[in-house]
Amino acid sequence: MGKGIMKEEKGEIVTIDGPSGVGKSSLSRQVATALGYTYLDTGAMYRAVGLFLRNLQVDLDDEQEVAAALAGFNLQLFPATEKDGDVGVVVNGQEVGRAIRTSEMGMLASRVSAIPTVRSQLTTMQQAIGLQGKIVAEGRDTGTVVFPSARWKFYLEADPSERARRRGAQLRAAGQGVDSQEVLEMIIKRDRDDQSRAIAPLQKADDAIVIDTSFLDIDEVCRKMLAVVQGK
Ligand code: DC
Repeated sequence: MGKGIMKEEKGEIVTIDGPSGVGKSSLSRQVATALGYTYLDTGAMYRAVGLFLRNLQVDLDDEQEVAAALAGFNLQLFPATEKDGDVGVVVNGQEVGRAIRTSEMGMLASRVSAIPTVRSQLTTMQQAIGLQGKIVAEGRDTGTVVFPSARWKFYLEADPSERARRRGAQLRAAGQGVDSQEVLEMIIKRDRDDQSRAIAPLQKADDAIVIDTSFLDIDEVCRKMLAVVQGK
């Protein structure tokens, strides 16, 4: 492999992985804005597939049916318009908006993310986006599978009860009814499923920097990450 290609692969990519509710989305947005990079929300892509397959009532246990349905799946991502906004997700010409941001859609995304054909198609799309460089990619496998040669990798973790508290606050702020115990149970189940699936499970890349965000606010974590990326 030529030197040029190695440089390209090592492109300016920051990966941020970790379980749900650890602060990945807010941090990814903030780090991307500070660096002038594009924020790639890979979870939104799995959520969009979940919504698409659910609307078509596809049998998720039938991989051939899933693959056939995905042949008609067209996804476009648009940068967030406001500072704290989500990325725009358009499926087959239709903006999905907040419909993919519920806890149920998080669980469904986790379910479809274990289907091999879904993973390989989304991974290919993510890698194509990564070729542009200057990306902050957020997800479960961005440092291990999607961008193993990324220059900066972070793995965030936090106590499950703190993550459930944050996720509950986010859902309340979005006007959704929240049962705190249920949120905690969903987080624990989703972690277990994401960590135990056969393909691209949630795990720390060997070369990722681990940050426990349980007792740190977003700004402090962001400062730490920027210090690493900017070499301060
Ligand atoms: O980050 P999120 O909550 O939007 O992700 C929803 C689900 O999608 C998550 O529980 C597992 C799956 N996912 C994945 O398997 N790989 C990724 N890179 C991102 C998300």
